Parts: sequence; C-alpha cells; structure tokens
Amino acid sequence: MKILITGGAGFIGSAVVRLAVARGHEVVNVDALTYAACLDNVAEAAQSPNYAFAQVDIRDRAALDKVFDEHQPDKVMHLAAESHVDRSIDGPGDFIETNITGTFNMLEAARKYWEGKGRPEDFRFHHISTDEVFGTLGETGQFTEDTPYAPNSPYSASKAASDHLVRAWHETYGLPIVMTNCSNNYGPYHFPEKLIPVVILKALAGAPIPVYGQGLNVRDWLYVEDHADALLLVLEKGKLGRSYNIGGENEKTNIDIVKTICAILDEKRPGNDKYEEQITYVTDRPGHDLRYAIDPSRIRDELGWRPSVTVEEGIEKTVQWYLDNEEWWRALQNRDGVGERLGTKA
Ligand SMILES: NC(=O)c1ccc[n+]([C@@H]2O[C@H](COP(=O)([O-])OP(=O)(O)OC[C@H]3O[C@@H](n4cnc5c(N)ncnc54)[C@H](O)[C@@H]3O)[C@@H](O)[C@H]2O)c1
Repeated sequence: MKILITGGAGFIGSAVVRLAVARGHEVVNVDALTYAACLDNVAEAAQSPNYAFAQVDIRDRAALDKVFDEHQPDKVMHLAAESHVDRSIDGPGDFIETNITGTFNMLEAARKYWEGKGRPEDFRFHHISTDEVFGTLGETGQFTEDTPYAPNSPYSASKAASDHLVRAWHETYGLPIVMTNCSNNYGPYHFPEKLIPVVILKALAGAPIPVYGQGLNVRDWLYVEDHADALLLVLEKGKLGRSYNIGGENEKTNIDIVKTICAILDEKRPGNDKYEEQITYVTDRPGHDLRYAIDPSRIRDELGWRPSVTVEEGIEKTVQWYLDNEEWWRALQNRDGVGERLGTKA
C-alpha cells in the first residue's frame, strides 16, 4: 500500500512514517518543513527504497496536484498542521491558512485525483485531528464521537473547521474518508516547545520549570507510537465516513505529570537538589481548557485497539529518550520562539 502522509517530518507524522515503513508500506512524506519539522525524525525510514519525500506546502494547490500525479498514492493520511496552542494565540493567521485552507486544498487535490482514477472504493482520505475540538470538560464525563464541537482556542477552532470540511467532502462528493480525534500525545521526537519536553529540558538546564496556573488542567495522555499504531489501524479497517476517538484512558493533571518527570530525573540524573524545587507557577494560558478525556470504546470495540503502554511506562521511556538524544533537541532549541513564554498576546 502506498500512503501519502502530510506532516511526516513533525512529531506524530514522523512516528506514522517510521511505523508504516517498518511494516513494509510505501510512504510519500509531504511536508513544508516549518519551524516544527525535523527530517532527522525520519532518518532511519529515509534509508528505505519505500520512502520518498516532497517538500511541499499544503497551501499550494498546484504543488499538491503534482505530488498526487507523480506518486499515485492508494491512501492519504493528513497530519500537516500548525499545532501549538500558544502560537495560535499570538498569531492565529497561520493556523487559518494551513489548518483550514490547507485542508481544503488537500481535499480538492485528493478529490481530483480520486475522480480521475475512476473513484476507487478502497481509496481513503484519513484526516487526523484532536480532542480539543470538543472544548473543555468539567470534573466528570468523557468525549465521545457524538460530543458537540465547542473549540476554545484559535488552534482548536481551526482544527474543528478542518474536520467539518472533511465530513462535508464525504457527504457531498462521496470522497472516501475516515477521521480520528486524539488526546494529548507524548514520546520521542516531541518538539521542545510542548509541555513534557519543556519540563525535561528546563529541569536538566537547572532553569525554572513553568507550570501554567495551578497545574490542575487534566489531559488524557497517549504515547505517540500507540497513536501511530491506532492511525494505521483506522486507515485499513476503519468504517467509511466514520470518526474514531483515540485516547489512552490515562488522565493526569499537569502538575502530576511534571512531578512524575522530576522524580524520574531524580533517579536517572541525580543533582544536589530535587528537580521539583525548580517548579514555578506562571500566569495561566488564556482560554485554557480545564479537562479533556476520551471515551475510546468505539475504536476498542469495533477495531480491537488498545494502547500498549501506561502513562507511567511511557513517560519513563520518554525521559530516557531525551537523556539519550541530546544532539537532537539541542539543535532545535535555537529555533524561533523555542524556550520562550508564548501565548500571552490575548
Ligand atoms: N500533538 C498532539 O498531542 C496531537 C493530538 C491530537 C491530534 N494532533 C494532530 O496531529 C497532527 C500532527 O501533530 P504534531 O503534534 O505532530 O504536529 P507538529 O507541529 O509536530 O508537526 C506538524 C508538521 O506539519 C508540517 N506543516 C505545517 N504546516 C505545513 C504546511 N502549510 N504545509 C505542509 N506541511 C506543513 C510541519 O512542517 C511539521 O512537520 C496535527 O494535525 C495535530 O492537530 C496532535
């Protein structure tokens, strides 16, 4: 199977590329290489004759048509997006252009290609999205696939819009789509502006570890390699036109996550003081959703998917990965805005 994967040089996309190539699939990685991309994430997969890369911006429709023509994929997995909520607060324009207009371009390029080939039934356009489209939960309850959309940040609003476009292209044009909405991911190759890598790297640098508000926001954490596995399963076995929520049933407050990382580092890289002493509470993010939690029963019951690691095991593996891969993250720390407090311009 030949899969065109957008955003394959990013965090989750690269995990999908690595897994797909390891499973013997052909992959065309389509990525504009924005500040969030790193081709080292797919260095091993890139050795394979089954791997091809095209530096293309999904805002460029003509370039997308060319990629479809040239590579003739059997399936599409669309992950390319602007993904950092704090950046969406300071500069929402890029999120509108890439996440909404870019998805529109992808749908139109895929539709032209699929119609040109005589509308093959087994073609799939798999749109990868987030649980943030559902807004925030109170202390109880979980998001199901039927939860009404109520996005609160420019990022989640732009993803919600893209989800609606994908659904409409199925209903109106019959484009064979599947969709997934996943909870917070973490793991190897996570760009050093997101919570878990920020905590690890600030701790190692002896710098204040910033925690937004009181650290009481709850997220449902999923190891990125488990997400990649779920995505390939939905691509192959997901029911046409259906959406699937993906989550690890691993709810933790941010402060719990931060303290867990500090405790792991106390063991692996002991210093004079406990790392917890570096925790510093900072002004909360505007519009910060209190709690996300996924009800994964559809993907579990219909497709038999389950995560392979608990959050405790996954965080331990992740901390070890950052300790072992200093060269990777040091190179990214020089990129624009990394290490700075962003998302304050509301
Ligand atoms: N990170 C999470 O916890 C999470 C959870 C659920 C869903 N998602 C979704 O999964 C997808 C991937 O997320 P991620 O965390 O890997 O993001 P990321 O920011 O790490 O990677 C995004 C990739 O997309 C590329 N890209 C950005 N704009 C582009 C454009 N205009 N044209 C082509 N390529 C472009 C970037 O270069 C980068 O390689 C996104 O759609 C995101 O909404 C993320």
